[in-house]
Amino acid sequence: MSLMSMLSKNGPSGFGASTTAEALTSGLDLTGRHVLITGSNSGLGLEAARVLTMRGATVIGTARTVEKAREALAPLGGKTIPIALELGEPDSVRASVASVRALGVRIDALIANAGIMALPKLEKLHGYEKQFFTNHIGHFLFVTGLVDQVADDGRIVILSSGAHKNAPATGIELDNLTGELHYSAWKNYGQSKLANLLFARELARRLGGTKKTVNAVHPGVIATNLGRHMGTMERVGILVSGPLFLKTPGEGAATEVWAAVHPGAAGITGQYMQDCNVAESSAFGKDMALAAKLWTATEAIVAKVGGPA
Ligand SMILES: NC(=O)c1ccc[n+]([C@@H]2O[C@H](COP(=O)([O-])OP(=O)(O)OC[C@H]3O[C@@H](n4cnc5c(N)ncnc54)[C@H](OP(=O)(O)O)[C@@H]3O)[C@@H](O)[C@H]2O)c1
Repeated sequence: MSLMSMLSKNGPSGFGASTTAEALTSGLDLTGRHVLITGSNSGLGLEAARVLTMRGATVIGTARTVEKAREALAPLGGKTIPIALELGEPDSVRASVASVRALGVRIDALIANAGIMALPKLEKLHGYEKQFFTNHIGHFLFVTGLVDQVADDGRIVILSSGAHKNAPATGIELDNLTGELHYSAWKNYGQSKLANLLFARELARRLGGTKKTVNAVHPGVIATNLGRHMGTMERVGILVSGPLFLKTPGEGAATEVWAAVHPGAAGITGQYMQDCNVAESSAFGKDMALAAKLWTATEAIVAKVGGPA
């Protein structure tokens, strides 16, 4: 627990920055529930999978290969189903959607958790900036391919980040999704996380009138493998100031687990969440006109790189 977590008060949900996924699910029996988690082999996804299986849920966990998913999930000892998903490859995303559909189960919660951060140099996938493509386009294709498999009262949780506030000055640079005009490791990460948030808000709007919910989550700042592309000085800076603000993986996984399964989060939709409570996003993060434009641009990209799942 960091100093900041220790000093912060719990919010209206009764939970806060220092709540762990394990603590908030204490007493919950999730037997019979199916929770799908992308990026379940590492960091927050793995911690969420550990706690959810501990509470009896069946975790359908993805990793880039099925072997990697199996290796990560088997030691958890609970009910797990490993699935391959490479978000950067539409063919893999479509195959993954097909594998999940073939299970024939209703998905009680889908946590779009996988992600990459702060690639130092511009890298592209299918002509688009890699963080935008992986974090947003890959998950758009995956989640929209599975919405009808989500239970009638199921919950979709999309990992965003407080870094969405560091998006470019115009929010989403729809004229620079290739990154060719200019590129910044952190601004482009921020843009991809703003895209995750706007996707959650727009999908929630589109699912209005149903009981399916969609929310976006900032987990806090946690030292996971996500920092693998950061420079040495950036890593040292985080580790030195870590005791002040770094969350543990258990605290970091708490908000996505709260959003996905806790009775206190039932019925909440279209929101940005942090520290196991609804939170304020940036103005761009609430801009539904931008969300609609992003949806249209995303559909065009998806059509170009291989059509819907
Ligand atoms: N940690 C933080 O401080 C923090 C803060 C704000 C938001 N977040 C968000 O929280 C989420 C989880 O991050 P984390 O901290 O747990 O990071 P992590 O430990 O690096 O885990 C990320 C997961 O995403 C997977 N992944 C990456 N690229 C992928 C791809 N192309 N296709 C499929 N899977 C891919 C990784 O697989 P491999 O292991 O194979 O690479 C891994 O399983 C991310 O969306 C991140 O943006 C984290």
